[in-house]
Amino acid sequence: MTSQPEPLRAILRRAADHLLAARCSEDLDEASLEADLLYGRASGLDRAHVIARGAGTPSTASVEAFDVLLARRLRHEPLAYILGQREFFGMTFEVGPGCLIPRPETETLVEAALAAVTEHPRARRLVRVADIGTGSGAIALAVAKHAPSTKVWGIDVSGEALQWAARNMRRFGLMERVVLLTGDLAEPLSEPIDVLCANLPYVPTEDYEGLPEEIRASEPQIAVEGGTTGIELIARLAEQLPAHLAEDTAAAIFELGAGQAGFVEDLVTAALTKAGRGPLDVRVHRDLRGIRRIVEVRYGYPNA
Ligand SMILES: C[S@@+](CC[C@H](N)C(=O)[O-])C[C@H]1O[C@@H](n2cnc3c(N)ncnc32)[C@H](O)[C@@H]1O
Repeated sequence: MTSQPEPLRAILRRAADHLLAARCSEDLDEASLEADLLYGRASGLDRAHVIARGAGTPSTASVEAFDVLLARRLRHEPLAYILGQREFFGMTFEVGPGCLIPRPETETLVEAALAAVTEHPRARRLVRVADIGTGSGAIALAVAKHAPSTKVWGIDVSGEALQWAARNMRRFGLMERVVLLTGDLAEPLSEPIDVLCANLPYVPTEDYEGLPEEIRASEPQIAVEGGTTGIELIARLAEQLPAHLAEDTAAAIFELGAGQAGFVEDLVTAALTKAGRGPLDVRVHRDLRGIRRIVEVRYGYPNA
């Protein structure tokens, strides 16, 4: 007896059930989205076309390619690495092993950075921006794209991460205004910076082992683990700020984990006050989940 060809919709529903059972997705909606995206990747279709073809029978080649991608996902390889891309701040970044997958909470940092650029007295001329720990280039490139009056330096200690940042810089055509540098924290900078952003690793060592296997097995540890207290790198960067921020007007903006905002506020204000910068305007921005996620310290801005 020959079996009836199976419609795409049934194949995708079964895949979504497997993804849910393997705890790759939190609920059936997310599992269905993942199945659609994986099939789209396998067959070269966007999601709208995958859904539109649900009643049809897919080609054997598409189903075989889909099965390979589904098997990778069921082994908990991050979806963004399998698709080779992730949406961030309305832009499609190329990502893969060696760089952190940009997270939605980091969009709050980009919004703060864009406000700090727009309100800067040099906004009509050129605002110099640095992104310390640039990874895929998410922050540096989102700021450069949305604020044309900027020159942006993206720095990372990882050569592998910088290769992704360079791919994305070319993808968005931002080579004229973005410079990528290898090195430790702000050390490679040779010009004063007006707006400095940093999403450095901030997960304390003892919490790192408790992170989902999907993160620990795939994303670089150097991008996630921030030492014993979690804020060692941020503390070192705070010490470097006076040497790298413009003397008259500047903003320093940091992304942090839950419960770290108060400590970072103290570190940054102490370092800048000791260097005679001020008066300081300290702001804390909450992410979409209400967590105090971003600490911003400004000085020299009008109407502060
Ligand atoms: C949390 S990831 C952030 C990546 C990207 N900025 C984002 O928001 O998606 C932290 C990045 O900091 C980099 N990093 C770790 N230690 C560093 C150091 N000492 N100096 C510069 N970059 C560092 C890591 O390689 C990683 O790319």
